[in-house]
Amino acid sequence: MKSDPQAVKDVVYPCQDTHVIVPASVDRIRTKNLYLRPLEIGDAAALYEFRSRQDVADWLWPKVPHQNIQETEANILNKTFKTPDASGALGRQFTFAVISATDPTQKVIGAVGINGLVPSPSIGYGIHPDFWGKGYVSEAVAAVVDAWWKLSREEPEPRMELNVEREKLFAAVNKANVGSVKVLQKNGFEIVSEASLGGDTVVLFALERPAR
Ligand SMILES: CC(C)(COP(=O)(O)OP(=O)(O)OC[C@H]1O[C@@H](n2cnc3c(N)ncnc32)[C@H](O)[C@@H]1OP(=O)(O)O)[C@@H](O)C(=O)NCCC(=O)NCCS
Repeated sequence: MKSDPQAVKDVVYPCQDTHVIVPASVDRIRTKNLYLRPLEIGDAAALYEFRSRQDVADWLWPKVPHQNIQETEANILNKTFKTPDASGALGRQFTFAVISATDPTQKVIGAVGINGLVPSPSIGYGIHPDFWGKGYVSEAVAAVVDAWWKLSREEPEPRMELNVEREKLFAAVNKANVGSVKVLQKNGFEIVSEASLGGDTVVLFALERPAR
């Protein structure tokens, strides 16, 4: 079986209608330890510093480190949604550069964001190994998820059924990636299903949009 990002989408993500309206200009976010700003193409060199490492690629699909900065640039461009949001807008994105709030150089050390809208929105993240285990990605995911739920929605037509499903945000993780599994569980994501993909067990997590 293929183990590229599209194969992961095909295998694990369920379909969900798009109700979110993504603004053309996304606000910056300040958390306790971090500064999150919209990811830019100019951040490729900083992201390449860890996307070119095998110990990072081991947890992604495909498990091949980026070979050059152009590949990281393409990966950043790929964060632009390829399907319209609920307002019909195309070309929007919701991915943030992660910066330590105490770093005077404001160096980008990671990225967290929504990978796509179809078949359903999923969250993805990664941070340079020098910063693993400091709670940064848990903190960044909490902030990005909160901002995602706060975006406007085009509400679905009222339906007669009582059991209308609440909107969800998904994440697909290698079951052996203990740190990533913990990041999701600490943020309230729950396991939906498991699937085999090229020798890995992929766990699908979901988080429901809080009731308004
Ligand atoms: C997985 C990853 C995003 C975690 O980021 P992080 O900032 O180190 O995570 P946090 O510090 O918020 O850790 C969350 C929890 O996981 C634990 N943890 C983190 N890395 C771990 C590891 N390698 N093994 C075991 N536990 C780990 C932390 O101790 C913490 O647990 P606690 O709250 O009980 O103390 C980071 O290791 C990474 O970028 N890896 C490479 C890319 C990747 O895997 N992306 C995700 C693909 S789904």
